[in-house]
Amino acid sequence: MKQNIVFATNNKHKLDEIRKIAGNKWNILSLEDIGCHDDIPETADTLQGNAEIKARWIKDKYGYDCFADDTGLMVDALGGAPGVYSARYAGPGHDSQANMALLLKNMEGVANRKARFVTVIALIAGGDMKLFEGCVEGVITSEPSGNEGFGYDPIFLPDESDVTFACMTSDAKNAISHRGRATAKLLHYLDKPTVSATE
Ligand code: IMP
Repeated sequence: MKQNIVFATNNKHKLDEIRKIAGNKWNILSLEDIGCHDDIPETADTLQGNAEIKARWIKDKYGYDCFADDTGLMVDALGGAPGVYSARYAGPGHDSQANMALLLKNMEGVANRKARFVTVIALIAGGDMKLFEGCVEGVITSEPSGNEGFGYDPIFLPDESDVTFACMTSDAKNAISHRGRATAKLLHYLDKPTVSATE
């Protein structure tokens, strides 16, 4: 029988991604599935800190073993910005279009366009907290391209590809993406026969 584990997100893209690769052992529940509508505060100044806050919140308030992720886009020429503040780069209440527009504006005329996506996943299972990290190197393009994916995908060109993330199928993106890599490490760990998650 499949074991339940909560992924502390309601982001449909992320849920689809992980359910596709989770296999038979795990039934991945979303926050909505467990009736959690909390606005979980992401107040840490590191990806690890925010991932830990979210996982701890679900375990403490709802009792489920769970994992949570936090992702940032680190741009070298901007000193690592937007980084942990990627979701709020253009200010509170702004969407991905606004975030991308601001990033492109701040990169106007900049020659060094190197950047990387980093994902940190915090897992609480069997009483332990474990961390998994994934990273993908690339460059910021000068204009958006593609309609797939979400967030900054249209302006991120991975080194391992000729097209932006937003021009790839979800399978092609998952194979090389920050979250795909962090998730692969998480699932490898969860697949060990000794690991079990309980409510
Ligand atoms: P989160 O913490 O994972 O929700 O992501 C923080 C910010 O990074 C949000 O603005 C997301 O849109 C963006 N982001 C996260 N993952 C990706 C991705 O795979 N591609 C593009 N943008 C992403």
